[in-house]
Amino acid sequence: MNVGIDAIRFYSSNYFIDLHTLAGVRGVDPDKYTVGIGQEKMAIPPPDEDIVTMGAAAAKPLLDREGKDNIELLLFATESGIDQSKAAGIFVHGLLGLPARCRTLELKEACYSGTAALQLACAAVARNPKTRALVIASDVARYELASPGEPTQGCGAVAMLVTANPRILALDSETGLFTSDVMDFWRPNYRDQALVDGKYSTRIYLQALQECWKQYREQSGRSFGDIARFCYHLPFTRIAEKAHERLAKDAGIALTDEHLAQQAGGSLGYNKIVGNSYAASLYVGLNCLLDNEPEDLSGKRIGMFSYGSGCVAEYFSGVVQPGYRERLFSDEHRALLNNRTELTYRQYEDIYNLAFPTDGGTHMFSRYRTGPYRLAGVKEHKRQYEAAS
Ligand code: CAA
Repeated sequence: MNVGIDAIRFYSSNYFIDLHTLAGVRGVDPDKYTVGIGQEKMAIPPPDEDIVTMGAAAAKPLLDREGKDNIELLLFATESGIDQSKAAGIFVHGLLGLPARCRTLELKEACYSGTAALQLACAAVARNPKTRALVIASDVARYELASPGEPTQGCGAVAMLVTANPRILALDSETGLFTSDVMDFWRPNYRDQALVDGKYSTRIYLQALQECWKQYREQSGRSFGDIARFCYHLPFTRIAEKAHERLAKDAGIALTDEHLAQQAGGSLGYNKIVGNSYAASLYVGLNCLLDNEPEDLSGKRIGMFSYGSGCVAEYFSGVVQPGYRERLFSDEHRALLNNRTELTYRQYEDIYNLAFPTDGGTHMFSRYRTGPYRLAGVKEHKRQYEAAS
């Protein structure tokens, strides 16, 4: 029996800043951002949007179409946690009206947690194939203003319905795994911006890729040529090109620009204009590939590399199912990205500097453009969510 992704949808903020604008203010050549890092725009969440509203926005259309019956597991993957105790998924469970018979929990291991959630969901569904699992990965990537990490911020969420006999991507059981205790990127509880040793993190990412890929090849007996399309975790899109060049080199393949674009370029478009969305990022890339690849990928194998700083990494793959295109939300994704509001630098900085109230009083937030849900405010230390219209 196959298990995997039966439906997938992504959501991101309706606001962005163009990296040409940021480059102008920072006195940086824009090519550094657009060519050197491979990013063009970054999504910025307004004050009344957070990981919960983004996660619920990603999942709602999917559940409106697929129904909520038999969803017995809701895994919410994030490194932008809003509470030390209560799982963010429980707010989503409430907003979406999911069945009470459901295990709901939050998973954390930097950007890897979305993949952990997906694999755990597959195991749960394999154990009881009559049930379905909802996986949500949702994050806000946030670094200090004017730091090297600043142009690699962003935000977004992906929701995936995991079922037996999936109609989009059947996951293979072979994986390459890697854990190593490193301090390349972290966020202590008292900070709301991540700390990062950027160049070191990039080196570890590539090392972890090589180790995972080696194991994956040994376990599966597959080689570079058996993978039709490659998706990589995308903190910024240039890293995918470096990662792909590394795998090709290890396989003794001389990669042309054309091959690079065809094999690994199809997943980059959304991330270039959304930015990093940590746990969701790999799956925003997968959405982009499935939505925009001109060739019918039915029966083709997609390889995926997930990396979470700290670090845990995994190489795994899946086979695209016939008829997958009818299951996608491609038009909705494009409409969302084409209808966003551009922020000026001043607006971006004002939003960035808004501190979340911590005094236990009642604070209601101004209404911005959001998805179907918004964070209305906070009262007695409790977040207040509501339908946006
Ligand atoms: N035109 C074209 N290219 C230019 C340029 C110009 N005018 N100026 C510079 N560049 C190139 C540089 O040559 C460099 O290319 P290479 O990487 O190929 O050498 C590239 O642009 C970046 O320039 P710098 O190395 O000088 O950039 P930086 O020091 O400002 O930092 C960064 C870049 C390390 C990615 C930084 O943005 C960062 O720390 N980001 C956050 C950390 C991160 O994303 N790490 C990735 C792995 S960790 C992970 O994956 C988990 C996660 O999600 C965070």
